[in-house]
Amino acid sequence: KAKAILRELEEKCGTPTGMLLQVADAMAVEMHAGLASEGGSKLKMLISYVDNLPTGDEKGVFYALDLGGTNFRVLRVQLGGKENRVVKKESDVLSIPPHLMVGSSHELFDFIAAALANFVATEGEDFVLLPGRQRELGFTFSFPVKQLSLAFGTLIKWTKGFLIEDAIGQDIVGELTKAMERVGLDMHVTALVNDTVGTLAGGQYNHPDVIAAVILGTGTNAAYVEWANAIPKWQGPLPKSGEMVINMEWGNFGSSHLPLTEYDQSLDAESLNPGEQIFEKIISGMYLGEIVRRVLCRLAEEASFFGDDIPIKLRIPFIIRIPVMAAMHHDDTADLKLVGSKLKDILEIPNSSLKMRKMIVEVCEIVATRGARLSAAGIFGILKKLGRDTVKKGEKQRSVIALDGGLFEQYSEFRNCLKNTLKELLGEEVSESVNIELSKDSSGIGAALIAASHSQYLETEE
Ligand code: BG6
Ligand code: GLC
Repeated sequence: KAKAILRELEEKCGTPTGMLLQVADAMAVEMHAGLASEGGSKLKMLISYVDNLPTGDEKGVFYALDLGGTNFRVLRVQLGGKENRVVKKESDVLSIPPHLMVGSSHELFDFIAAALANFVATEGEDFVLLPGRQRELGFTFSFPVKQLSLAFGTLIKWTKGFLIEDAIGQDIVGELTKAMERVGLDMHVTALVNDTVGTLAGGQYNHPDVIAAVILGTGTNAAYVEWANAIPKWQGPLPKSGEMVINMEWGNFGSSHLPLTEYDQSLDAESLNPGEQIFEKIISGMYLGEIVRRVLCRLAEEASFFGDDIPIKLRIPFIIRIPVMAAMHHDDTADLKLVGSKLKDILEIPNSSLKMRKMIVEVCEIVATRGARLSAAGIFGILKKLGRDTVKKGEKQRSVIALDGGLFEQYSEFRNCLKNTLKELLGEEVSESVNIELSKDSSGIGAALIAASHSQYLETEE
């Protein structure tokens, strides 16, 4: 019986190349639809108001606040212009207490503002803020926001593990500014960016061929540089650069070609956001271990996989997190010792047999492979949309995709599978002109750089 459950999982999660090509085509089609009109697609294709990526000329002290899925970071940088680039950088990472992810807007922003105020208080003399100037901040907020300008945007909905009803529809910069006032912190929010947009800016600062950024972490999403005249829904003036960064919110992509299973359906139905973020729910770090857990539950219930009783810990949603799943998948000891010890430590299953361990590795492999191959199909879809899925003779065009997020960083099998699949989709020749690069923590620097290039003091300097 256990074998039959596993074979069924494998079959339902299969992602043959033909299917991935269809997914990529659907992605490109939806990108067009989302750019054409508001609400034209499940892909929101949000306008970021970032029409100029950093040039390297940015100077001064800037702060960034990076609110991701699980952690938030505070950062300050001293930028030294073309010659000196990032002169000095300091940062701090804090985890977000889970109750604040589902509490009130007030509580969340108070907590963030207080942490920021503490961090500002540690600013040393080697950060040279010009006299009389207000500190400026780039705010990386990793959720879908409808922006009306670079520093004004309202929250469309929460994703990942967040659900704070009273913040939906609110001006996010306004909420943060009010909280900063409450803690007596005088700081100006100059830019509000998604983490993908920050990663794109930070990535391009280090590597001029970066054309898109993808986050594979708690959630998943992508941003890329689009021609402004290819965005029919854009009502504003044509930017000087002719370009505009688009936050795709690809986590909400949906297509009849996606290989979905009963585990995905129940996970979705019991999630904080049923019916939403389906692509994210089969790819990203918050959900992969949870899919594995659901498969193990079925194995326990229907095939007595763990003996007569179902291990109590296995009943706890989200108990299998990415570092554990990656470690089990990666175990190369002959008797899968590591899998055994994770089962013992995390799920309190003391005596696992080798056969059992092997099957668990297989479940991880099937679930991670599906996610990694679909991520590659998404990236291929973007390259297609941009006409970068082919190379013209004699052309030396390079396309670099900046990648960040815990899933990509910590899960080597996932990462390798993604890279190999992208190669497979692009073909040998084109794949030589496309690179995927880890751009670790560049979203914070990216947000600080965008704040610098839009500083309220810029005109007085010129
Ligand atoms: C971090 C970035 O490195 O990765 C964040 O600084 C981003 O902006 C995050 O949100 C995503 O990864 P995870 O695994 O923390 O969700
Ligand atoms: C979720 C958010 C998106 C973010 C992504 C990665 O999909 O909706 O804004 O970029 O997670 O953090």
